[in-house]
Amino acid sequence: MPLPLEIIILAAGKGTRMHSHRPKVLQELGGRPLLAHVLACAHALAPAAVHVVYGHGGERVPRAFADAGVSWVLQKAQKGTGHAVREAMSHVSKDALALVLYGDVPLIAPDTLRDLAAAASKDTLALLTAELPDPGNYGRILRNAEGAVVKIVEHKDAGELERAVREVNTGFLAAPAERLSAWLARLGNDNVQGEYYLTDIIEIAVADGLTVATRRPRSAWEILGVNSQQELAQLERIYQMQQAEKLMQQGVTLRDPARFDLRGELKAGRDVVIDVNVVLEGKVVLGDGVHIGPNNVIRDATIGAGTVVQPNCVIEESVVGQACRIGPFARLRPDTRLADRVHIGNFVEVKKSDVGAGSKINHLSYIGDTTVGKDVNIGAGTITCNYDGADKHRTVIGDGCFIGSSTQLVAPVTVGEGATIGAGSTIVQDAPPGELTLSRAGQKTVQGWKRPAKKDKSGKRKE
Ligand code: UD1
Ligand code: CA
Repeated sequence: MPLPLEIIILAAGKGTRMHSHRPKVLQELGGRPLLAHVLACAHALAPAAVHVVYGHGGERVPRAFADAGVSWVLQKAQKGTGHAVREAMSHVSKDALALVLYGDVPLIAPDTLRDLAAAASKDTLALLTAELPDPGNYGRILRNAEGAVVKIVEHKDAGELERAVREVNTGFLAAPAERLSAWLARLGNDNVQGEYYLTDIIEIAVADGLTVATRRPRSAWEILGVNSQQELAQLERIYQMQQAEKLMQQGVTLRDPARFDLRGELKAGRDVVIDVNVVLEGKVVLGDGVHIGPNNVIRDATIGAGTVVQPNCVIEESVVGQACRIGPFARLRPDTRLADRVHIGNFVEVKKSDVGAGSKINHLSYIGDTTVGKDVNIGAGTITCNYDGADKHRTVIGDGCFIGSSTQLVAPVTVGEGATIGAGSTIVQDAPPGELTLSRAGQKTVQGWKRPAKKDKSGKRKE
């Protein structure tokens, strides 16, 4: 019978090298905190418990994961990775298999950890190691003449020969909880950093006669840690490329996977085409045949089948129907709902509004807090004046209306079904259905009026 699995995630470190006020595990990768990625991986293993050691940044970390279903262990002072695990051990049941993960190593995959946990047993400590062309600042794995692991030496404590070793400690390990606790109690901090190193338990375990089994990650990037902004950027690119690959496998056409950013989740239908420099955030749903042009930012939105979003639009918290045409240069703000076949053109801003099927708002308009019926044509430069300085008011435009260009609709106001509003009107009262309503000063011509003429060099006005 395998031991029940309990996972310990180390997330208390300062992250000094990030030069940031934000706790390191709250730095974002693909729009989610690093720790969120590690938690998702941990939960995928269906463990008996997950313990997260937090400390630097205080309650900000647990607060960011209020519903994570984990137990939080406070490490008041950051005295090293060994000390961090020791703090957690009093919460871990004795008969469990403890698996240690790192809050700053976010791309680790469940399959690799399953291999690792399976390699551990009552008498075996399992360690995930990797061979790196440039072992950098990672701890080095030291093996004896028979090839058995005997010790890990931290980069900072390593001599020249040890630094030449290319097999590195990834930090991930699995061991029986009871034994792990015993080894941790024996750790010292006599090293360059004056810290209790988790890595020192290897030497202690070997002295106890235990075998150290090593396993390799399935993909090289899984073990990369985030310790600096450069590493964060590197991991972001790897992560984005992985997501792009998955989408392409599902049939999404990405014009350039290197210029695509998904910071959340995308559900895409068939024959979706996404052009370059598109940023998708939160939950985005794109129906069959949706075409997203270059330079679009779309957050928490659903876009219906056959809709085309032309270049340079921003769409947030909106629902767009089928066969619509949006942009270029359109902005859909939260709570916008467009029915099918709606056209929203350049320099049009829509907020908290419903627009009925087949309606068109093609140029330079602001439509806020408005209900637009179906088959309405809203002329260029139309503005709903929804705000009186204190409160917001609604505008209602009935089916089949025609709103002339440069109209201001001063809310609250209703334009009845089939009404026409003359261009340049300021509408302050309800306009009756089916009629032409306009408010406009009469046009006049000043006979014989002359435009002022420019002076010539001698100072005389030109005729
Ligand atoms: C650690 C390993 C190193 C390994 C590398 C892999 C040790 C001593 N070194 O080095 O062998 O190659 O990871 O990425 O274990 N943390 C705490 N409390 C502390 C200190 C750290 O919770 O007191 C957490 C950090 O938040 C971080 C993790 O432990 O998530 C690792 O700490 P970090 O300081 O980044 O260790 P490395 O120098 O990367
Ligand atoms: Ca690290």
